[in-house]
Amino acid sequence: MTSDIMRILFIGDIVGQPGMAMVKRAVPLLIAVEKIDLVIANAENASAGSGLTAGAYHQIRQAGVDLVTLGDHIYKKQEFISVLEKDDRVCKPANFPADAPGRELIHAVARDGTPVAAFCLLGRTFMRPVDCPFQAADRILAALAGQCGCVVVDMHAEATADKYLMAHHLKGRVSAVLGTHTHVPTADEQVLPPGTAFISDVGMTGPYDSILGRRIDRVLSSTITFVPSSFEVASGDPRLAGALVEIDPASGRATAIRRLMVNEADLANLERKQALRQTTQEPMTEPAAQV
Ligand SMILES: [Fe+2]
Ligand SMILES: [Fe+2]
Repeated sequence: MTSDIMRILFIGDIVGQPGMAMVKRAVPLLIAVEKIDLVIANAENASAGSGLTAGAYHQIRQAGVDLVTLGDHIYKKQEFISVLEKDDRVCKPANFPADAPGRELIHAVARDGTPVAAFCLLGRTFMRPVDCPFQAADRILAALAGQCGCVVVDMHAEATADKYLMAHHLKGRVSAVLGTHTHVPTADEQVLPPGTAFISDVGMTGPYDSILGRRIDRVLSSTITFVPSSFEVASGDPRLAGALVEIDPASGRATAIRRLMVNEADLANLERKQALRQTTQEPMTEPAAQV
């Protein structure tokens, strides 16, 4: 039995241990507080800032993430290739070569009973050459026709124009086109008629006292002196960044999108409220922290 409105939480690039710690603490709380029906996360930077290990993947899933998308760092941890070949909740970019390990489309049934499909695409501006993302999206949607009305697309791209182009190519054909990869949240969330939620980038889930998740001193010195150094994951100011999308399950059309940013103080507040809620058994009505 589906509800009137399905709520999907989409989480941007999880970066290293700070990002993992935020996911483990925040996702269960957000599911309860925001009445989330399905959680999707991009986890391409979850393990040491580059790639994903099997252990981290299972921790992300255990935290409540239903579907996992990836990006250009997908194969940085060799051990994860066997997971990509077997597991049906994690996908490779759909415009990768057919022989690249992993599936291009994933499915889950949301908590309200609505089937949801998801896939990710890589942009082609200032990125490694890949197949046409527009043709890849068309191919997948043709294969999906009539089988699943709620479809979420992770557009993993460097250029905002690539993301706008994909959103307009897919408007009215998918529920949401949500941007990842730049690790910097944008303020352009909107619902494109007749019902496709869009944002250029939801931002990263990781340390914001950083250069896109990496230690400022390392990146800065390397940039100024040209002497290479290891770009370790930073630790300060961890935050969870994402978007909350409301979808009419009957039509698959999005009705609303809201940016979400949860820092340590917000998280402590959520934990306190959740503890109070469990004590009193009263339903929560206050929204979680937002931008
Ligand atoms: Fe990326
Ligand atoms: Fe990333």
